[in-house]
Amino acid sequence: MEKLVISGGKSLKGSVDINGAKNSAVAILPAAIMASEGKCTIDNVPDIEDVHCLERILRSLGCTVNKLDNNTLEIDATDVRSVEACTDDVRRMRASYYFIGALLSRFKKARVELPGGCPIGVRPIDQHIKGFEALGASVTIEHGAVIVEAEHLHGANIFFDVVTVGATINVMIAATLAEGTTVLENVAKEPHVVDVANFLNSMGADIKGAGTDIIRVKGVEKLSGCNYSVIPDQIEAGTFMIAAAATKGDVTITNVIPKHLESIAAKLIEMGATVEEGDDSVRVYVERDLKGVNVKTAPYPGFPTDVQQPMSALLSIVPGKSLIAESIWESRHKHIDELKKMGATIKVEGRTAIIEGSEKLAGASVIATDLRAGAAMVIAGLVAEGVTEILEIEHIDRGYPHIEDKFTALGADIVRVIE
Ligand code: EPU
Repeated sequence: MEKLVISGGKSLKGSVDINGAKNSAVAILPAAIMASEGKCTIDNVPDIEDVHCLERILRSLGCTVNKLDNNTLEIDATDVRSVEACTDDVRRMRASYYFIGALLSRFKKARVELPGGCPIGVRPIDQHIKGFEALGASVTIEHGAVIVEAEHLHGANIFFDVVTVGATINVMIAATLAEGTTVLENVAKEPHVVDVANFLNSMGADIKGAGTDIIRVKGVEKLSGCNYSVIPDQIEAGTFMIAAAATKGDVTITNVIPKHLESIAAKLIEMGATVEEGDDSVRVYVERDLKGVNVKTAPYPGFPTDVQQPMSALLSIVPGKSLIAESIWESRHKHIDELKKMGATIKVEGRTAIIEGSEKLAGASVIATDLRAGAAMVIAGLVAEGVTEILEIEHIDRGYPHIEDKFTALGADIVRVIE
């Protein structure tokens, strides 16, 4: 068992390099299976457990995966021999559902176990299924696996009922090798949707409009290997921005796309922090008392749901009342009980957390109930008086590369203990 042990109270100072985006990488890796010739060399891949999981799944399907360095993978999918992804790794993570779209697109059939992922509410895949069916596939669910099959895939007009990152990416992937043009409407506009579209285009796809409300995919006959670099992680960057403000530090967060961080920067500025934008960096520091704010999560370019939990740790030590209204996931406040163990005063009503900022938090033994909850507990531990130990950190390792090393380099007292 591993845990993080933090002695709080140190102000973070210095600079931290952000890794590639988890939520891009976890779609790009499955999509690489669509290259029927040549190798995909993908760099800026974060060294996280979700990526390790995908590497194993790719190998189990017959891909050759070489790790050229910690952040560069070379994937050769020319000899894929199986369209069945039914291992424990598949069940463990959410993004394994991208194998449904990718295998369907290239082989016109797939059998993929239903995905797992963070316990943050009901996570249906009805919009993925609706899209695959519109493209001409039959979709059935048997013994916990999704089975898709098509004689051939054809273009279609698809209007999503909800704005969904997963279905937008998955159906875009599936449409890439379909015959004719697919028009996707009411799509997600997150940076990682654009990144996956750019990756597919680098392999030879013809996708336009990613990042707007309408994506047009003109089907092509085949995809080939390419060289590609994953965009920086908006959520990892947001987590460090919030940690800088929470510890009243001065941190420059490098290798970021500042545009992707605007909603987070705007909230920190509203609270009283200073955020300076560089070309590929943001500097966050605090020179005056911060005040409480209201946060409502929304699809991009709104405030990201994935940063809401770290934000709740910051707001719990800022005087005054703050609200966090979670509009994407119905159950993303499980970490609040852990924050309360550290002295936070927070009430959850439905999907809203009502926070009465306390002067300080006190170290305690807490658990990472999910990935971003874990990040919230790290931030709480950094500002708390005394020692905080965070258990169940496998959730954190799924999405944050070498988190303790990065915070240590900024002056935090945080160690990983293996028991
Ligand atoms: N939804 C449906 N039907 C569907 C798909 C989604 O009703 O077929 C609903 C969901 O229930 C939710 C909303 O649509 O209420 C948005 O879901 P979305 O599909 O956008 O989420 P996702 O693709 O499952 C990804 C990220 C999440 C992030 C959300 C929202 C990955 C692997 N996961 O999930 O990231 O919270 O988008 O931005 O990309 C995280 O990184 O911590 C994380 C949970």
